[in-house]
Amino acid sequence: MTQVITNEVKRLRQDFLNVRKTTSIIFEPISIEDAVMQSDPFGSTPNWHIAHVTWFFQKILEKYKQDISANSINTDYLNSYYQRYSKILPKTERGKYPRPKVSETLKYRVMIEDLFLEFLDYIEKNNSLIQNIAYDIELANQHEMQHQELLVYDLQHYFQKFEDPSDNYEPKIIKRNNTLIDSGNIGNIQDEMIKIPGGIYELGFPGDDFCYDNELPEHKTYLNPYEIDKYPVVNREFIEFIDAGGYQNYRFWLSDGWDLVNEKQWNAPLYWRKIDGQWYKKDFRGLNKVSPYEPVTNVSYFEADAYSKWAGKRLPNEAEWEKAASWNDDLKRKTTYPWGDNLPSDSTANLLESWTWAPSQIGSYPFGKSHYGCHQMIGDVWEWTSSEYVLYPGFRSKFSEYTDKWAINQKVLRGGSFATPIMQIRNSYRNYFKPHERIPFSGFRCVRDLL
Ligand SMILES: [Fe+2]
Repeated sequence: MTQVITNEVKRLRQDFLNVRKTTSIIFEPISIEDAVMQSDPFGSTPNWHIAHVTWFFQKILEKYKQDISANSINTDYLNSYYQRYSKILPKTERGKYPRPKVSETLKYRVMIEDLFLEFLDYIEKNNSLIQNIAYDIELANQHEMQHQELLVYDLQHYFQKFEDPSDNYEPKIIKRNNTLIDSGNIGNIQDEMIKIPGGIYELGFPGDDFCYDNELPEHKTYLNPYEIDKYPVVNREFIEFIDAGGYQNYRFWLSDGWDLVNEKQWNAPLYWRKIDGQWYKKDFRGLNKVSPYEPVTNVSYFEADAYSKWAGKRLPNEAEWEKAASWNDDLKRKTTYPWGDNLPSDSTANLLESWTWAPSQIGSYPFGKSHYGCHQMIGDVWEWTSSEYVLYPGFRSKFSEYTDKWAINQKVLRGGSFATPIMQIRNSYRNYFKPHERIPFSGFRCVRDLL
């Protein structure tokens, strides 16, 4: 028993150190001027992100009665949405209160980090890692990972506003994906769909390792037979939709989506701009022509749904998506990732620690395909599903106000993006956003009924 606890604390400590280091890698290149800007009400300032995740560790320390009286930092503006803690600053106001200052935030991070390491030492020495504490520590690590991705969204949104292509976020580590396939080999991928048999499918996380409470419990669902796109929908296909008048034809749109198209004058995914008749986009690679064989990203649920209708298909529900990603018919069980149970690596998926800072072309990860043969279900772009974000039947909250209170008016996305940390994602992971949101790195793939 002692050995198990010691190993578990060691793992949590290593994860803690890793997650803090990765946050620093992302934050370091940001100037103070840029660190206190809130680019959009959807997001936060970079300074707020890194102070807030530290505040979350502070709350865990306080929960277990750790003394942080030496804390002299003003944390008044760091509560995101927890009614049970201090006063909440509305999200839209975060950019107006750049406190703590960046220098204070950095000191605060070191101070809480030291206290947290002391806390881990204490529970290791006293053999006192109980299940609740382990979940809370893991949750705090995972919470910081979620903010790493949100920070990348904010950096993309902020820097694309500056016309000068060289005025951009300069990542400390950047690696180009060198497994790109020759686009000449890509045929008409819209027709490449994979048949999945119907029947009872158990939705949810199958293992004993960490997962969020909203991935549990596993429960039976019934699926009709369907076929699903082998690849996520790519820019070339989405341009066909645009060129076919997709944004001008109400027939493809849900009512709320059609209102938005007209109100916001949407005519392409977020960040696209037309120069001399060609679609361009400024992202972390600079200003470039939209790459035809990269998964389309930064589209809303409404755009994904409209495209699907135009293509004579529909969006998968989350059980259809998850079965295509995880069911291994030879083993008669699900696997944690599409390729099996091993953690993602550079040969299986494009995630944050791949440091590509962009989606990769379809076909770039043949070793990452699912047992049914679907490519890039993990990494590159989140995939919208048609499912409402509701809590699974039998749901039990493990940390109130974290996943539970958001189960209203949101759609589930699956699979993670190029900005999702490796330790964050698995087939059963449920992300959720409102259907109009386009700032997440969100794409999609379609399905068709076989009945
Ligand atoms: Fe948060």
